[in-house]
Amino acid sequence: MASFLVSLLLLVLQTYAAPSELIKAGFGSARDSIDPDPVPPVNVSEDSTSSPPPGTSKRTPHSIIIGVRKGGTRALLEMLDIHPEVAVAATEVHFFDWDENYAKGLEWYRDLMPYSYPHQITIEKTPGYFTSPLAPERICAMNSSIKLLLILRDPTERVISDYTQVYFNRLENHKPVQAIENLLVRNGALNIRYKAIQRSLYDVHMRNWLKHFPLEQIHIVNGDALIHDPLPELQKVERFLNLPPRIVSSNFYFNQTKGFYCIRSDGRERCLHESKGRPHPSVNSTVLQQLRSYLREHNRSFFRMVKRTFSWQ
Ligand SMILES: *[C@@H]1O[C@H](CO)[C@@H](O)[C@H](O)[C@H]1NC(C)=O
Ligand SMILES: *[C@@H]1O[C@H](CO)[C@@H](O)[C@H](O)[C@H]1NC(C)=O
Ligand SMILES: *[C@@H]1O[C@H](CO)[C@@H](O)[C@H](O)[C@H]1NC(C)=O
Ligand SMILES: *[C@@H]1O[C@H](CO)[C@@H](O)[C@H](O)[C@H]1NC(C)=O
Ligand SMILES: *[C@@H]1O[C@H](CO)[C@@H](O)[C@H](O)[C@H]1NC(C)=O
Repeated sequence: MASFLVSLLLLVLQTYAAPSELIKAGFGSARDSIDPDPVPPVNVSEDSTSSPPPGTSKRTPHSIIIGVRKGGTRALLEMLDIHPEVAVAATEVHFFDWDENYAKGLEWYRDLMPYSYPHQITIEKTPGYFTSPLAPERICAMNSSIKLLLILRDPTERVISDYTQVYFNRLENHKPVQAIENLLVRNGALNIRYKAIQRSLYDVHMRNWLKHFPLEQIHIVNGDALIHDPLPELQKVERFLNLPPRIVSSNFYFNQTKGFYCIRSDGRERCLHESKGRPHPSVNSTVLQQLRSYLREHNRSFFRMVKRTFSWQ
């Protein structure tokens, strides 16, 4: 029940609602690994033509939220935006993981960042970076002392959430969809090549980052904790980023109707993504067990790697 609530809360942060019957219904036509990949970076020319506030400039980020997809990166970014000394980028940039963007050069990248005052730090988020083989080396080449933020949640819940997002994207685009079990299982065994599973192998991806960055430079946010009780997780991030403590409990209020925290700052109130959230499918329990036991090994190895354990709820 608890884990169901967590996933519901996390989902609630993502997008719109849809009837759960849809998910449970079997959809025939088999397709191989569904790739949720991503919308191209938005056209930001609007932003760059408006005149900048005096005293501000665009700078490459001091910190990047590198992932994980469906881990709560949007919630984290929006919550950090409360801090007066933080300026957040409006769009996902995909500079370091997409060759065609990387080829445009650092100037192009910097131009996508927000205007910020000298005392502020700039943060962008691109959740695809965590699982990108190219991103660690490229980010390190830009700024080897950059501070990285990684938000993670239970790897099994993340797989289901990943599936759910892709599922609704495909429905929206009138593409064929299929039941989660058809993707998770291939010839009677767990289909470990399914991308949603691959992206939940936190140890595999982390190993790649630790080749380029010391562990101290990567702060891991517990995505489940952030949703249940945002302030303590955000205070840890403030300390990691050497920011003065400015985020306080009155910046959050629990919306009973929505079942999650909304943000109050600068006299504005906003609930992350006006939405009722997408329900998770109910997954065949045998298959779910297979998935859990496969991921258990990987999160053990991950815990050793980061010298820390998480009680994913
Ligand atoms: C971006 O938007 C501007 C104005 O709306 C348009 O002129 C320009 O062609 C767009 N650029 C791209 C790459 O879509
Ligand atoms: C690199 O990142 C560190 C940590 O955020 C920051 O202090 C420094 O100014 C950055 N360097 C450049 C050149 O942006
Ligand atoms: C709480 O959420 C409900 C449902 O989305 C919304 O109608 C209401 O305005 C919210 N209340 C506050 C105080 O944010
Ligand atoms: C779950 O899937 C297994 C095969 O992987 C099947 O034998 C079992 O009947 C399914 N259980 C339910 C409740 O559908
Ligand atoms: C590791 O992850 C699996 C899959 O989510 C979970 O069932 C298990 O409890 C986790 N192990 C620990 C020690 O938290």
